[in-house]
This record gives sequence, C-alpha cells and structure tokens, in this order.
Amino acid sequence: MHIAIIMDGNGRWASKNNLSRNEGHKIGSEVLQDIIEYAKELNIDYITAYAFSTENWSRSTEEVSGLMKLLENYLARAIKKARSENVKVRVIGKKEGLSAGIIDKIDKLEESTKDKTGTCVTFAINYGGRDEIVRACSNILKDMKEGVIVNTQISQELISQYLDTSGMPDPDLLIRTSGEMRTSNFLPWQLAYTEFYFLEKMWPEFTREDFDEALRMYSLRNRRFGKS
Ligand code: IPE
Ligand code: IPE
Ligand code: MG
Repeated sequence: MHIAIIMDGNGRWASKNNLSRNEGHKIGSEVLQDIIEYAKELNIDYITAYAFSTENWSRSTEEVSGLMKLLENYLARAIKKARSENVKVRVIGKKEGLSAGIIDKIDKLEESTKDKTGTCVTFAINYGGRDEIVRACSNILKDMKEGVIVNTQISQELISQYLDTSGMPDPDLLIRTSGEMRTSNFLPWQLAYTEFYFLEKMWPEFTREDFDEALRMYSLRNRRFGKS
C-alpha cells in the first residue's frame, strides 16, 4: 500500500495558537516523524509526504529560510537514525535551487538506505508535479538524442520510468489536512486513480487515530478503475 500526504495547515494552526509560522512547521515536522513511525509499525509499504513545493518559494524569505533550516536538520537526524532502521528513504523534486548542504544530505540518506527492505519513505522537497513532467520529457528527449533509448514509442510506462517516482507504485490513498480540497501540484500523474481523504484538522493536530480513520474510510471505498 502507498499513502501520500499533503501536510497542510501548519501556518494557520500556529497563528491560532499565537506561535510563529516557523514554530508551526517545527511541530508539523514532529507530527510527520510520529506518523512515519506509525506507518512503519503498520507495515505500510510506501509513504510519501509533501514537504516543500516548487510554489512555496513565493513565501517570505523568513519562512523559506526557516523551512530550509528545518528540512536540513530533519535530514541530518534521519541520516543518524538510518543505520539502525529498516527504512528506505527517497527524495523527489528538483535538486536545482536547493542548498549544497541539503543536496549532500539527500544523497547520503538515499545512498545509505538504498538496500533497506522496510517501509519506503519519500519526501517531496522542491517538488512540483508539472515541473516533474517537464523534467521527465526533457530527459526522454535527451536520451533519445544520445541513443540511450532507441526505437522506443512514447508510452505511459516510459513516462512513468522518467518521473522522480520511477519504480514506485502509484499512491492508493491521498490524505490532505486543513480542509483544502485540492492537490496543489502534488503527483498529478501518479494520483490519476488514487482515493482522496480530506479532513478539516490542521497538520499539527493530526494523530495516529486520524491516520487509522483515513485507512478505515479507504477500506470502504470501491475502486473500479473504469470497470462496471
Ligand atoms: C504546510 O502548512 C506546510 C508547507 C507548505 C511547507 P502551510 O504553511 O501551508 O500552512 P497554512 O496552509 O498556511 O496554514
Ligand atoms: C501544499 O500546501 C504544499 C505542501 C504541503 C508542502 P500549500 O499550502 O503550499 O498549498 P496551497 O498554496 O494552499 O495550494
Ligand atoms: Mg497551506
């Protein structure tokens, strides 16, 4: 099973509690840590979390730098924990635009967990679905020109292989907090047949029980994939 999460509402939750937006993000990152822990306990195969979108650069410099610092610390802690855990970590999104420190930590984390067989945890950092599709198309074109792929028709499989999520199954369930009912450029190709679960709670308020409830609701859905 693959669960994708749009962790939304850190800012609104912080304002409501007289905290700064960056304090909201800090609490949000702790909630993510706990939900990943829980997903591991439940033996969920894949969990993919939207941490920073290509559109999030348009926030204030203070918020963006706070988020980047938080991400870097989070990755550093994950590197320390990686050795003793059976978790495979992957990062999707555009490297360009991220600091050398963050890119270095992403590389270390992916490299040190690549042979792990447990839950695959994917962080979407500087990720935008349309950007991902554009990069995939450019790379297909480049590989065709360079003869890396020959006599190949453009197909859904080929495009999937060139996306950042190459090799991963599509999400079965998407959870979004904060009451917003949109996908905000998250995995547009991969979510084509995904079940959506939206809840009003803000991400810092999200609990293991909410995760259970999302799974329960999912189990009641009838996925037809076009069949009658
Ligand atoms: C989600 O919370 C976290 C990120 C986008 C990084 P927001 O920061 O979007 O919180 P709201 O939606 O403004 O409340
Ligand atoms: C989506 O949330 C991005 C992440 C959770 C990282 P946003 O808060 O950026 O989405 P919009 O702007 O409300 O659509
Ligand atoms: Mg938001």
